[in-house]
Amino acid sequence: MAVVSNRMIRPDVGRVWFRSRALARQARPGQFLHLRVPDANAAILRRPFSIHDVVGDRIAILYRVVGDGTRALSALSAGAPVDVIGPLGIPFRVMPSRPPLVVAGGIGIAPLQFLLRRMTARGLHPRLLYGCLTRSALLPHLAVTRAVTTDDGSCGGRGLVTAALAREIGRRPGAAVYACGPWPMLRETARLCRERGVPCQVSLEARMACGVGACQGCAVKGTAGYLTACHDGPVFDARTIDWDQGVAV
Ligand SMILES: Cc1cc2nc3c(=O)[nH]c(=O)nc-3n(C[C@H](O)[C@H](O)[C@H](O)COP(=O)(O)OP(=O)(O)OC[C@H]3O[C@@H](n4cnc5c(N)ncnc54)[C@H](O)[C@@H]3O)c2cc1C
Ligand code: FES
Repeated sequence: MAVVSNRMIRPDVGRVWFRSRALARQARPGQFLHLRVPDANAAILRRPFSIHDVVGDRIAILYRVVGDGTRALSALSAGAPVDVIGPLGIPFRVMPSRPPLVVAGGIGIAPLQFLLRRMTARGLHPRLLYGCLTRSALLPHLAVTRAVTTDDGSCGGRGLVTAALAREIGRRPGAAVYACGPWPMLRETARLCRERGVPCQVSLEARMACGVGACQGCAVKGTAGYLTACHDGPVFDARTIDWDQGVAV
């Protein structure tokens, strides 16, 4: 798979587009790619990234630079080859008869853009609730109906995105929730949905090695035993997760 373009959209966040007809055709929202970045000293292990978007035969990931692997990724220029396994994992299961509420926290917007695009293409009208710490942390995303919240009130409503979700659930009877973001946000989302009887799917992150269910390195505690984030997830029905285990990563 070759890089088509790679640009920073914020000082610490980049978007890279690859060309691969086969991957673009197979990809489903919520799945991830397991990338080995060339020339990265520490990149012996692959790094998992959600599929952020698919347009024609191009496929994108949105990455935050946090260490050697993502730094090496940010240095790739057009034409660079990248070794990839994927698409991997369980995607979101869209429930077409229920109004979709899509909840993103920070970089958790990454897999949701593709989900929003596919929902819109199916004639659904997803409402995106997008929460960030502050205005400068907001990332560009699709122009679907959205409500922005920032913890400090510098853009959109002041407060946590889960408070906005609590209000929206009341306004959208029969809704289904699809969420990605930090663990405390997902835990509160799962709690609200359980309390109100709303179906909820969450995309979880865990440190990964093999990416295909072989090493148990990405184990997440479920209500009925351990699950692997790479093979049983990364998208889970929120009711199957033990939310008292603390942060999964
Ligand atoms: C299914 C899945 C999908 C993901 N999708 C995205 C995405 O779309 N965009 C994105 O920016 N990141 C995503 N991640 C996280 C991404 O894989 C890590 O940030 C990346 O592997 C870090 O590599 P590194 O070599 O730069 O950092 P490292 O040197 O390995 O680590 C640097 C720091 O990042 C932390 N870190 C490493 N891996 C993870 C992880 N899996 N989750 C949280 N923190 C981690 C480490 O604890 C450490 O503090 C996803 C992870 C999973 C499991
Ligand atoms: S990373 Fe090996 S089982 Fe998930």
